[in-house]
Amino acid sequence: MGEFKVPFIDLQQRYQDEKAELIACVDRILTKGHLVMTQEVGEFEQQIVDYTGAKHCVSCGNGTDALMLGMWALGIGKGDEVITTPISFVASTGSIAHVGATPVYADVREDQNIDPAEVEKRITPKTKAIMPVHWSGRIADMDAIMDIARRHNLLVIEDAAQTMGAYYRGRHGGTFGNIGTFSAHPLKNLNAIGDGGFLVTGDAEIAEKIRLYRNHGLKDRDTCLFYGVNSRLDSLNAEVLMYRLKRLDGVVERRRANVDLYRGHIRAREVFIPPDKEFEKNAYVMMITQSERRDELQAFLSKRGIQSLVYYGTPLHLHPAAARYGYKRGDFPVAEAQADRVLALPHHQQLSEDQIAYVAQSINDFYGA
Ligand SMILES: Cc1ncc(COP(=O)(O)O)c(C=O)c1O
Repeated sequence: MGEFKVPFIDLQQRYQDEKAELIACVDRILTKGHLVMTQEVGEFEQQIVDYTGAKHCVSCGNGTDALMLGMWALGIGKGDEVITTPISFVASTGSIAHVGATPVYADVREDQNIDPAEVEKRITPKTKAIMPVHWSGRIADMDAIMDIARRHNLLVIEDAAQTMGAYYRGRHGGTFGNIGTFSAHPLKNLNAIGDGGFLVTGDAEIAEKIRLYRNHGLKDRDTCLFYGVNSRLDSLNAEVLMYRLKRLDGVVERRRANVDLYRGHIRAREVFIPPDKEFEKNAYVMMITQSERRDELQAFLSKRGIQSLVYYGTPLHLHPAAARYGYKRGDFPVAEAQADRVLALPHHQQLSEDQIAYVAQSINDFYGA
C-alpha cells in the first residue's frame, strides 16, 4: 500500500502508533505461557458484555464461524430458509449454506441495509430466521425487523461483523436479535492481529451450547458431550482486543469526524453518501459512497495517489456459488444498481485533514464541481 499518497488503510502506521502496547501484550502472554483458552479469553468476553450491554459473549475463531456457531445452536439447518441481504461479504450467505439452510434474499434500501418491507414479502412456511447485516457499520432497521420476527415467530441472527461501536436508538448493534455475531478481522474497527470473532446473546443456554461447541463439545478434558469444532480465540488476540477495546470509541469518533469532513468538502452531486438518521450512530467501518461513473472515478483517484475500493461489485445472488438458488439479474434492482456505483474512500483514523481535503478536491475535480 506504500505507493499511495492516501492509502485505503495503513496497518504499518497503526503498528507504529500502538507498538509499545502491542509488544507489551505479546510479552505478558508469552511470559505467562497463556496461549489457548486461558483466563484472558473469559476476561475479554466479559468486557464485550460490559461494552455492548449484551448478557453473554462467546469468542471464537472468526466472524464466519460466529455466524455458523450461532445458527447451529439455534437449530437452523436443512430445509430452513433464512432471509438475508444481497449486499454483504460472502460469509453471510456462505454460513447459511454451510449449516445446510437456504439463503433467500430481500432487496435493500438506499442506505444499503435490508428493506424490512421486502423481508416480509419473502416469508414462506419454511422461513426460520432473518439475518440482517449491519453493512459498513450502520445498523439495519431493527425495530421493523424485530416486529416482523415477532409477528411471524422467526429467529433473528444479526450479522454484526462490522458493528462494534455502532448504535441504533441508543442500543448497541448485535443485541437485538437472538444472536449477534462479530468479526475482529484486521479491517474492522475492533481488530485482532489476525483473525478473531465473537458473538453475543441474551440466552444463557444458547451461550453455553456454543461455548462447548467451539471447543469440541468438551465439558472437561475427559468428557465430550457432543462433537463440536475447534474455533477458539487465541489468548494473545484476547489480550490485544482488550487493549484495543479501550481505544475503540476514539477510533469510531475519528472515523465519524473524517466522514463529516468529506460531507463538508465534496460538492459533486454525482456522489451520494447515505445520510445518518438522528437515531443511529454509524461506526463507519467503511465509508461507502455511491458514485456515478464509478470505475472512471476510481482510476482518476488512483492516478492522484488515492486508493479506493469497491465493496462489492457483485451482489451475492449473482455469484457463481449462488447459481443453485436460481436468481438472476433484475431480481434485486436496488442492490444491483448500487453494486455498479459503490466506492469506498479512505477515511481511517490515521488520515490527516489535509489528506481528506485532497481526496475530496480530487473528486470535485473529476466531476468539475
Ligand atoms: C458483513 C460480514 N459478515 C461476515 C464477515 C466474516 O468475518 P470473518 O472475516 O471474521 O470471518 C465479515 C468480515 O469479513 C463481514 O464483513
